[in-house]
Amino acid sequence: MPPVILAHRGSSGLFAEHTRAAYLQALADGADGVECDVHLTRDGHLVCIHDTTLDRTTDGTGDVADHTLAELRELDVSSWKGVSIPPTYGGQGEQLLSLGDLLLLLRRAGRPVGLAIELKHPSPFGLRLEEALMAFLMDEGWDPESSMIGGVEVSFMSFNPDSVRQLLESAPHHQVCQLVADIDPGEVREALRLGSVAEGALIDVLEGAQRDSEELIDQQVVGLAGPGVQYVRDHPDRVRQWITDGTRVRVWTVNTVEDARFLAGLGVQELTSDVPALILQSMAQR
Ligand code: G3P
Ligand code: CA
Repeated sequence: MPPVILAHRGSSGLFAEHTRAAYLQALADGADGVECDVHLTRDGHLVCIHDTTLDRTTDGTGDVADHTLAELRELDVSSWKGVSIPPTYGGQGEQLLSLGDLLLLLRRAGRPVGLAIELKHPSPFGLRLEEALMAFLMDEGWDPESSMIGGVEVSFMSFNPDSVRQLLESAPHHQVCQLVADIDPGEVREALRLGSVAEGALIDVLEGAQRDSEELIDQQVVGLAGPGVQYVRDHPDRVRQWITDGTRVRVWTVNTVEDARFLAGLGVQELTSDVPALILQSMAQR
């Protein structure tokens, strides 16, 4: 079976991430589903945005958590990319999407589609983020056994093991994904150079979080494992073992044909990609 392909923040290689255009393009590209990062607004709404702050992907500034949904709706979330958006996708100057907006878009896809929700931590709201998500989904008619809402199959992802444990209280095992960070030695070195963190503390934090994540997967506490491409290249035997144990492996963020073929060859079942059309095409050619 070729891997399931999820469009990372929509088809974000083409259109600004987390926009209606990026998500509509993902459906047009034939992606099996989409990945979406969520944060909570000051007034308790779930919104689709990657960063903690507004600065990189909107014309606003400051923290998402310090704004209401109404305030965030005033912002332009697409122009920063410098790519024109066709009128059929809603045109220029898109508004920020709530998770409800995205769910509605996916429910109208006319075919079954996956929605992989990544809960972003650290959140100023702590694990109230997970509570808010579960309350939202229940309101939307989510079935906790199948994890379906209409034709949309919902899965849950987090790098934070505490978030993952909390999600497992409500969501089915096979739909909860422990993400595993790629520890970038360059970034560690830079933090040490700046003296912003003591070496021992930094290594403890990095290795502790990494170890905790790996253990939740090794012990099959979760049904889905989410390593990055580099992690898989560095630890192929460990990832093979996860697959042998019956854990589904969902690798992020796969943007080259070479990586996609390597991962498919290893038996990885799911890939997230900014360029799903390219990856799907390369799979079809095999
Ligand atoms: O699918 C997981 C991947 O999205 C994690 O990285 O930074 O793109 O959210 P990031
Ligand atoms: Ca993400």
